[in-house]
Amino acid sequence: MEHELQLGAEDPLEETRLLAAALQAHSRRAAARGVAWSRVEANLSVEGKSGVETKTMPSSAAADRARSADAGVAAPAPTESPRILAPACATLEDLRAAVARCTACELCRTRTQTVFSDGLGARRILFVGDAPGADEDRSGVPFAGAAGQLLTDIIEKGMRLRRDEVWIANLLKCRPSDNGKPAPRASESCSPWLERQIELMQPRIIIALGQAAASHLLGSDDNLARLRGRVHERRGIPLVATYHPANLLRTPADKKECWQDIQLAMRAIGLQLSS
Ligand code: URA
Repeated sequence: MEHELQLGAEDPLEETRLLAAALQAHSRRAAARGVAWSRVEANLSVEGKSGVETKTMPSSAAADRARSADAGVAAPAPTESPRILAPACATLEDLRAAVARCTACELCRTRTQTVFSDGLGARRILFVGDAPGADEDRSGVPFAGAAGQLLTDIIEKGMRLRRDEVWIANLLKCRPSDNGKPAPRASESCSPWLERQIELMQPRIIIALGQAAASHLLGSDDNLARLRGRVHERRGIPLVATYHPANLLRTPADKKECWQDIQLAMRAIGLQLSS
């Protein structure tokens, strides 16, 4: 049997050396096959007498396949670059499904699920935030936590629309593991998904929430104070930048300026506030 150890050395030190060498060799073979740790553990307990599997650090794609195999569901295919996959998606649902299989950056290892978008977008207004947090990672819905409640109030009490009449999305589709800012490498590998999302949605206006979304979408290093308060044009689509709701929770005094930005965005697409 492939994994059987035949340690015949008399000398305990020599036996230990042989055991270590056998484990190393096995580890290399297992890594080449992408064996997951859960299966290694199972092997150790079932085949403990005659077979030894050792821990490997599977690639994220291999880990996903192994996890799926363990759960008895079809393994996702290894992912190509979002740069190749995203333009090939013909509908938002195709895109959502492709995003759900994405393993292009390290965030796929720590996410619970991808967070694609919320809303049906009948008004074709797209809000873009930065990245899912813990609530969003758990629910799969962008802006599901306290900042999301404030965004819902802006939409429903301020704009007098239903939340499901707009789209809400993020730069990143996975939660950054430290719950912090999108790392530049993650933003770079994720951005083709958002680009295709915008192409397929064809929003009448984009409202960028916060510095990260505004800088990324406008390709500008200017700070938010310089970017907000006017209507930009991004590849033919009007864009207004404003404060991130999480910042408004910390600095409620900025809500007044945020509301001015939202009104500006509404005027830009001819949306009147009924009195
Ligand atoms: N902050 C974001 O930018 N996006 C979310 O989905 C939640 C919080």
